[in-house]
Amino acid sequence: IPVQPFDLVLFGATGDLARRKILPALFHRFQIGQFDSNCRIIGSSRSDLTAEAFRSQTADAIREFGQDVETTAEEIAGFTALLDYVAVDARGETGWDAIHGKLREDAIRAFYLSVGPALFPDIARRLSETGIATPESRIVLEKPFGHDLASARGLNAALREHFEEQQIYRIDHYLGKETVQNLMALRFANSLFEPLWNSSHIDHVQITVAESIGIEGREEYYDKSGAMRDMVQNHLMQLLCLTAMEPPAHFTPNAVRDEKVKVIEALRPVAQASIARGQYRGKNGDGYRDHAGNPASRTESYIALKVEVANWRWAGTPFYLRTGKRLRERVSEIAVYFRDPPHNIFEGSGPIHGNVLVIRLQPDEGITLKTTIKDPGPGGMRLTGANLDMTFADELPESGRPQDAYERLIMDVIRGNQTLFMRGDEVEAAWAWADPIIAGWQDTGETPQPYDSGSAGPDDSLLLIHRDGRRWRSIG
Ligand code: BG6
Repeated sequence: IPVQPFDLVLFGATGDLARRKILPALFHRFQIGQFDSNCRIIGSSRSDLTAEAFRSQTADAIREFGQDVETTAEEIAGFTALLDYVAVDARGETGWDAIHGKLREDAIRAFYLSVGPALFPDIARRLSETGIATPESRIVLEKPFGHDLASARGLNAALREHFEEQQIYRIDHYLGKETVQNLMALRFANSLFEPLWNSSHIDHVQITVAESIGIEGREEYYDKSGAMRDMVQNHLMQLLCLTAMEPPAHFTPNAVRDEKVKVIEALRPVAQASIARGQYRGKNGDGYRDHAGNPASRTESYIALKVEVANWRWAGTPFYLRTGKRLRERVSEIAVYFRDPPHNIFEGSGPIHGNVLVIRLQPDEGITLKTTIKDPGPGGMRLTGANLDMTFADELPESGRPQDAYERLIMDVIRGNQTLFMRGDEVEAAWAWADPIIAGWQDTGETPQPYDSGSAGPDDSLLLIHRDGRRWRSIG
């Protein structure tokens, strides 16, 4: 469905995220006809650049980072014709009038701040004081949204001086991933799962976001942040919320976000004994500390936590979360482990293979249910494990290329749909949970345990779950 005409101002337009994700995502939405030449994208950053140079940089970015679909030179030219560029000094006077002059009265205005959070308050103030932002405009903020509760509160307060909450779109790109939205469809559009979706039937849940890449090139940000702030406080927290939340009454922004906040507020504080932190090592200058340029770094590139949602539905069902860099494979998934049947009538016929529902985010998005069946053939009643497997690309080939998270999210901004964006109180609640955990290891000065690049993470992480008589699913 085509969206209404818009003027999108992209701050940080020459940055890495804009080149890798935002501009290619916009291109693909243009390519499939979701918007046309009635829309404009105004790039903006400190660099003095002509509009022509910005167009040509963007064309290069699309060729390098665009999705693997057939793309013609005409399509790229058609898209870059919508681009303009204004150099802006976020903390000074330069550029604001020029931006103002380029915006149309009758188009939706969206301001995308793909810049560090330190600039959010200044840009928000300028947009409002110059009258560039109207009460209908939208402001989009990239992560990280602060680095602790105090800074997140400060940002929220600064934004709310100039914008209403309904205008503020805080991005967590995990919410734009197809399978993450599918998790809600799976839970709330089927009658099969929800009656079992509680601690009476679910033994535990594992949420894994394993990456094979390291931190190369992002050390300045990452070494101050670590896996807890970079991934758990936002992306894994969102996955946890969608898995654990109560059914909202409607699929509307505030109904969904109210339920997510309740989950975060129900989280128990996590004891240091329920945490395993690691840091990758590698030979010949290829370890975390080499990449970070900080030989004494105590920042974790891996973290596993046992998390408890202390409410009626989940008491007694732990959620094990883990994420790390330089692991064996890139795998993101939510695995729901159901309890074994109360009594095994097949004694001596082989073990029961517990039911595990795996929601795979990437790669090969899909859903698998591990079941126990009779081993086919003449060998009598022997049990074996088998998967009910639905890989979306195989099952629904006609639905075409899965859209990148950013494609979905940017179009939702234009449509004015906040369901897949974090509300201010939600981000604050997540920091309120994360802060004492981080303070816990900072107080003790604990050093993360080394793990080999290309492994499944540090040994402590295995112990964390083995202690409870459970095992991690294998990574790769
Ligand atoms: C970002 C983190 O938010 O998400 C990165 O800052 C991480 O460190 C990335 O690599 C992972 O995103 P995806 O979509 O590749 O799983």
